[in-house]
Amino acid sequence: MSSTVITNIASLVTNDPSRESADSPLGLIQHAAVVIDGDRIAWVGESSSAPAADNRVDVGGRAVIPGFVDSHSHLVFAGDRTQEFNARMSGRSYSAGGIRTTVAATRAATDGELEANLVRYLSEALRQGTTTFETKSGYGLTVEDEARALRIASAHTDEVTYLGAHIVSPDYADDPAGYVALVTGEMLEACAPHARWIDVFCEKGAFDGDQARAVLTAGKRRGLQPRVHANQLSYGPGVQLAVELDAASADHCTHLTDADVDALAQGSTVATLLPGAEFSTRAEWPNARRLLDAGATVALSTDCNPGSSFTSSVPFCIALAVRDMGMTPDEAVWSATAGGARALRRTDVGRLAPGAYADLAVLDAPSHVHLAYRPGVPLVTEVWRRGSRVA
Ligand code: NIG
Ligand code: FE
Repeated sequence: MSSTVITNIASLVTNDPSRESADSPLGLIQHAAVVIDGDRIAWVGESSSAPAADNRVDVGGRAVIPGFVDSHSHLVFAGDRTQEFNARMSGRSYSAGGIRTTVAATRAATDGELEANLVRYLSEALRQGTTTFETKSGYGLTVEDEARALRIASAHTDEVTYLGAHIVSPDYADDPAGYVALVTGEMLEACAPHARWIDVFCEKGAFDGDQARAVLTAGKRRGLQPRVHANQLSYGPGVQLAVELDAASADHCTHLTDADVDALAQGSTVATLLPGAEFSTRAEWPNARRLLDAGATVALSTDCNPGSSFTSSVPFCIALAVRDMGMTPDEAVWSATAGGARALRRTDVGRLAPGAYADLAVLDAPSHVHLAYRPGVPLVTEVWRRGSRVA
């Protein structure tokens, strides 16, 4: 195992709570260095006091941040929904029903095609600084198709989510109760060995509060931990249910009552905001400021999927969150790194402090603020994952 010192860092985001200040949650260090030993961070601090290491990398006055933790994506799919996007941009509205188009294409694809597609979007995300990602099933909706999606995903990440309850399968259009029984029975049995999490789309046109509760409690009994697609398209019971069941995260949170905000602020469920979805469905933005001011923990993720948010770019989501959701650049960068880690209940990623994985991105900029200040510019010039330079 060899050690490496990355030095001449103009500004380092550590997300180390012991370095937090009144102005920023990021635990910033100026003129910094990081020492990596094997796959972990061994030391962070000012360059002038960096210990010696086997190798030395000079990043030339650039900024370094923890690799992004994208805690919400749907990357096991086939096909494309360009026409649906085009129709929306001429005024049509988004509905959960579009998921059926991707279900048909996904069922028709081979394992090899699904895996090649997944790898393509993962490498795209990695080049943009994402070093940890969660991904879901939800475009198979049969026992075999959901289990194979999870099997394929689990070869590429530990953060795999069973989303058999994405919509009622078209095969059960007249029998939603029968579909919930399948999702909580035979399908759960086939899927649980490949997943860590269980999720449900709690929404009009998908699953109501009672159905969502049945899905999540069955998953918990089978050893999966809950997370919920909640309050995306309308007000509803999803957020309260997520907090009640101690879900790691309530995702979307676009339509929240004061009681929903209070519940998130009091519980340990993270509010995961997915601005790519509002961008791509021309919907109202989630109000991050309201959640932060109430004391809720906020994560930012891409929701990358072919229907409602076809972006793998966390920097793009940061820029949207700063411009339109009331976040400061520091809050948005925290939410896309440490916040994502919280949403996955991980302490080994999303921060650059001794003991954490050496997952980091080097920006071609003097500070992380440029991620919002220079939207759409590919600022990530180097990505390190588990102590190795990978992009
Ligand atoms: O998170 N909300 C549910 N699922 C996805 C959309 C999936 C699709 O439209 O294909 C989402 O936005
Ligand atoms: Fe989603």
